[in-house]
Amino acid sequence: MSARPNTAADTAAAETADACCTGPLPVLGRDVTVPLVTGGEVTYAALDYAASAPALQRVWDDVAAYAPYYGSVHRGAGYLSQLSTDLFEQSRATVAAFLDCRDGDQVVFTRSTTDSLNLLAQVVPGDCQVFVFETEHHASLLPWRDARVTYLDAPRTPAQAVETLERALADREPYGPALVCVTGASNVTGELWPVRELAAAAHAHGARIVLDAAQLAPHHPVSVKDLDVDWVAFSGHKLYAPFGSGVLAGRADWLQAAEPYLAGGGASRTVARRADGGVDVEWHTTAARHEAGSPNVIGVYSIASACKALTEAGFDTLVARERHLIDTVRAGLAEVPEVRVLSLFGDDAPRVGVISFVVEGWNSSHFAAALSAEYGIGVRDGLFCAHPLVRTLLGSDPQGPGECGAPEPAAPGERSLNAIRVSFGAGTPDEHVERFVGAVKELVRDGARWKYRTEEGRCVPDRG
Ligand SMILES: Cc1ncc(COP(=O)(O)O)c(C=O)c1O
Repeated sequence: MSARPNTAADTAAAETADACCTGPLPVLGRDVTVPLVTGGEVTYAALDYAASAPALQRVWDDVAAYAPYYGSVHRGAGYLSQLSTDLFEQSRATVAAFLDCRDGDQVVFTRSTTDSLNLLAQVVPGDCQVFVFETEHHASLLPWRDARVTYLDAPRTPAQAVETLERALADREPYGPALVCVTGASNVTGELWPVRELAAAAHAHGARIVLDAAQLAPHHPVSVKDLDVDWVAFSGHKLYAPFGSGVLAGRADWLQAAEPYLAGGGASRTVARRADGGVDVEWHTTAARHEAGSPNVIGVYSIASACKALTEAGFDTLVARERHLIDTVRAGLAEVPEVRVLSLFGDDAPRVGVISFVVEGWNSSHFAAALSAEYGIGVRDGLFCAHPLVRTLLGSDPQGPGECGAPEPAAPGERSLNAIRVSFGAGTPDEHVERFVGAVKELVRDGARWKYRTEEGRCVPDRG
């Protein structure tokens, strides 16, 4: 038995290299068919990558090749435990390389971006001032409730974002630690944020910055060194590795100065009873300090596999291909006067394959339901866990109610208080976005062919 499982990666790498130059990277589910309410079946067009991307075939193959060798991590004397521990730690090194981390940075494995940012929120020094734009995803917006948070107004240009931050930091109490939290690419508009400039502004004012790369890392290379950010967070399931792991990578000092995120085995180096009956604990000073419990080696290995697959495919190629998909969708939507694409920074802003829009005269939930039921296209409707931003873009009540992910329970045809989001990436074939554009045009021109009703807050085909 080799010390490294004979993964499918080696053979898949060659196929991937071919596939990247001519079309999408192979993903699971590309041949899945779904029934149409109007009869027949069609290949499913997964256009909700911003929520969760399908697993790369390469990731699946690597995980399957490793599965027979599965063993406990950091806690077994057996061969497979040691092999799994090696794989786990090699995965950490792979992720550090993928993110171009500095020497001394730590890669902590978490469950997701939300988990990563909550971990960071727990380790910020007690007197830390936090600055966060109101446009952020709730995962970046909400974990800082116990800190002194300043919410910054939505900027309308990247330059205004930098000015807004600089003004806020200049006005801050000129002592104590500060942290800026910013997204790399919006999960609503897909627009890229001026991360390097925001990092420079933060550092010029003695603040640190964490990059929410949940939507950036699957589409663009992320270099901690080049962007000069202090931490980066992302999720495996948006990076074609849906096995329950995420990443927080960056400076070790705040991580190691704080109590462990979770207390338990794995985080502790030694534990001993004291004479007075209590226990003394010596915590690890490595990433393990915040990884208590049995590590999710499959999740972590799958992220490393995805990092390698994307790197080998080449981000230049991936970005160019995605640019073509973005252009196809935006040009198609621009031909429909009833469609309004949501944007903070305007038409020319660089963006990833995440596009939200509303259709005049349509409730967004109704429109999304018709795309699914009549065309086999999976998009998302709602406020995308970025309620303040979507409501600002829609011009609706920013204080209004709305559950994360749940559509407003408006009946078909009623004015929409939410939006539709189409999103795609490295695994998306041209046909999916072409079918989407054709379906939008047809629905707007001819209306839905089926009747829909609201059931438990969701718009569904009326089969009664
Ligand atoms: C920009 C952004 N940040 C954070 C998150 C949270 O990611 P997760 O649900 O994987 O924790 C998301 C998820 O959609 C996101 O789009």
